[in-house]
Amino acid sequence: MKRIPLNNNWHYLDHFDPSFIDTPLVSPEEIRLPHTNKELPYHYFDERSYQFVSSYEQFLTVEKQTDKQYYLHFEGVMTVATVYLNGIEVGSHKGGYTPFKIHVTDHLKNGENRLFVKVDSTERTDVPPFGFVVDYLTYGGIYREVTLLEKEANHIEDVFVHVERDLLHIDIHSIFTKGNLIEAKIAIKQDDTLIKSFDQRLDQETTQIVETCHLNTWDIDTPNMYTLEIYSGEVLLYQTRFAKRDIAFKVDGFYLNGERLKLRGLNRHQSYPYVGYAMPSSAQKRDADILKYDLGCTVVRSSHYPPSRHFLDRCDDIGLLVVTELPGWQHIGDDLWKEVAKENVREMIIRDRNHPSIILWGVRINESPDDDSFYQATNHIAHELDPTRPTGGVRNFKGSTLFEDVYTYNDFVHRGDNIGLEAPKKVAKQTAPYLVTEYNGHMYPTKPFDDEIHRINQVKRHLNVLEYAYRDPKISGAIGWCMFDYNTHKDFGSGDKICYHGVLDMFRNTKYAAHVYASQNDHEPILEIASNLQIGDFEASEIKEVIVLTNLDEVKFYINEDYIKTFKPSKEYTHLDHPPIIIDDFIGNLIHDNEPYSKKDADTIKAILLHIMKHGMNLPLRLKLKMAWVLFKNKLSIDEAAKLYEHYVGKWGLASLTYRFEGYKNGALVMTKQVGPSYSNHLSVTIDDNEIAETDTYEVTKMTVMHKDHNDNRLFYSALPVTLTIDGPLECIGPKTRPLRGGVTSFHVKTTGKKGLAKAIISTQEFPDERLEITVL
Ligand code: GAL
Repeated sequence: MKRIPLNNNWHYLDHFDPSFIDTPLVSPEEIRLPHTNKELPYHYFDERSYQFVSSYEQFLTVEKQTDKQYYLHFEGVMTVATVYLNGIEVGSHKGGYTPFKIHVTDHLKNGENRLFVKVDSTERTDVPPFGFVVDYLTYGGIYREVTLLEKEANHIEDVFVHVERDLLHIDIHSIFTKGNLIEAKIAIKQDDTLIKSFDQRLDQETTQIVETCHLNTWDIDTPNMYTLEIYSGEVLLYQTRFAKRDIAFKVDGFYLNGERLKLRGLNRHQSYPYVGYAMPSSAQKRDADILKYDLGCTVVRSSHYPPSRHFLDRCDDIGLLVVTELPGWQHIGDDLWKEVAKENVREMIIRDRNHPSIILWGVRINESPDDDSFYQATNHIAHELDPTRPTGGVRNFKGSTLFEDVYTYNDFVHRGDNIGLEAPKKVAKQTAPYLVTEYNGHMYPTKPFDDEIHRINQVKRHLNVLEYAYRDPKISGAIGWCMFDYNTHKDFGSGDKICYHGVLDMFRNTKYAAHVYASQNDHEPILEIASNLQIGDFEASEIKEVIVLTNLDEVKFYINEDYIKTFKPSKEYTHLDHPPIIIDDFIGNLIHDNEPYSKKDADTIKAILLHIMKHGMNLPLRLKLKMAWVLFKNKLSIDEAAKLYEHYVGKWGLASLTYRFEGYKNGALVMTKQVGPSYSNHLSVTIDDNEIAETDTYEVTKMTVMHKDHNDNRLFYSALPVTLTIDGPLECIGPKTRPLRGGVTSFHVKTTGKKGLAKAIISTQEFPDERLEITVL
């Protein structure tokens, strides 16, 4: 089999006319795939601006072999594609999230061919998710890769591999155009090491093979991947990756390879600022890495459609579990619409069933009502195509009819001061394995530049829900809404076409709540202070407590050089793997050590000051009486008492003020963080990769510019304009000048097909230029 990538040299026009089908386009734009039919502003745009029909043209020169078979393979075209080869319609496809293959042997010419694709990116009511409202955008264009496949006369269409203990099950679907025999050699490899190979006659359309094979298990810490290759003589006919692992959703939780694992994760859309869905493998893979390594998640839900294959490949490689689902949002259309949805289920499962990372097929339209015959059918399709995996289907109401193996539920019960999650028995009619597939999100939208109380409340809500998920063994896990902010339709979001529901912003930069997830991991130490400790950002200037998100054992807290106290993980969150540490004493023994009062009086004064700090001057009678007694006994005036408050709590007028947090693990100091008012600040510029290489198409990396203070803490309210200038073979995606939002912004830069050294300069009016070099290999 030969794969001929067709991602370069496309011609594009943002409109369509029937005459374009067989006449070369006039003055088109030269583009590469992944492509968005329209670049959008960051926010405040009309979502109808990308909903149109567009034209894509490609001249491809093929040395056509008479004994070969040819297919065009499209990985994702939003929303309806009609494909013409040399002026003849060769196929069409409905649905923007699943791949399709068109057999073109009869229409492909030796020499030059003209491929034309009419791409309808309107919200057609005959295609999921459309028909009512949708809380995300479905950006148009040919936004995933296209390949011409040259296959042998007798070739392999598809292979499903699954492993049960030491038995390898291989289901092969062959296509014969010359006789009906493939004398195949099947090889199992790990990296380049051959594990096993055997000969196999393939003389039926489907061949089911069972072989013994000792393989290492795949799990989230050791994701052992294998490759299965099928050869005919020396010719590679087919290749797929797979792994051995055992999954089970039971009433008492999710099991991976026989061990219970609480699933902790976030929902992910596949959108990016400006270019929507059109991002290559490097960006897709980066998102998986962020979830696994930066956020410590064990699972991701690919809401609300199948993600890029690159994303799934990376999830396999790094051991990140995936819940995936068919495209759709709340609405179920007519019978034709349902047929498209069922076809989308088939396409999803056939494309993805060899990925060990996938643990559940979502076979209901997200948050749709019950529809028994439709959902019996989608479950049947899933179980037939993949008897090894359970199904789920995401609901937003209780007592739904369950045809799936797992009751998956979006639980938005938490409002900040009540229960975190419902008990499964209150939600599902019957006892069944149970997974929470969304929480929070619209219940508490949070902008990275919201005031600090708001951003801290988002932290608490994520902690509160996770605590509930951890404490109830019947809840297999919880997947929060959501990983990052996303552009959306007018019916949702904050009026600027953004849903600020993420624990990250649209560029994947953190809000405080991101550290809730990061702090649950055990791979690397985390010590994040969810506060800048600036009283002016709090009601009545009262800082009640500081939440430290950490996986360390304890925090020693200092103000300037004064040791205040050692704090342990909070007793409010006893079920989390790593409860936060909550600092609620800013005085420690200081009054006793520094002032001439008895220990008892010093403690009383401290209690009063802390009470005022947390609740204001309205003291309960008990404290009022104590205060009167202490003032009287120590001959303290009200003014002197107020000075004590200013000194020990308000910290007004100190030449400098630093709050220091030392994080300890097993008695050893692991990390220190400092927070305090700042006189000096600077820009920090980081980049994901200093080297970047093209694959079958362009690739991207990301530069992040953050405004920070002298302690290296982010200045959340900075909106400084920054400009990126590039000299060399990289291009900036989106506007070159943009403001920091919440003290940070990022620039995705993409390769141009040329190699060499690119020099990037980040300039502002305030700071010296920052320079970075990136090598394009
Ligand atoms: C859910 C929905 C998500 C998103 C979320 C916001 O109901 O499934 O797509 O809209 O609400 O919290």
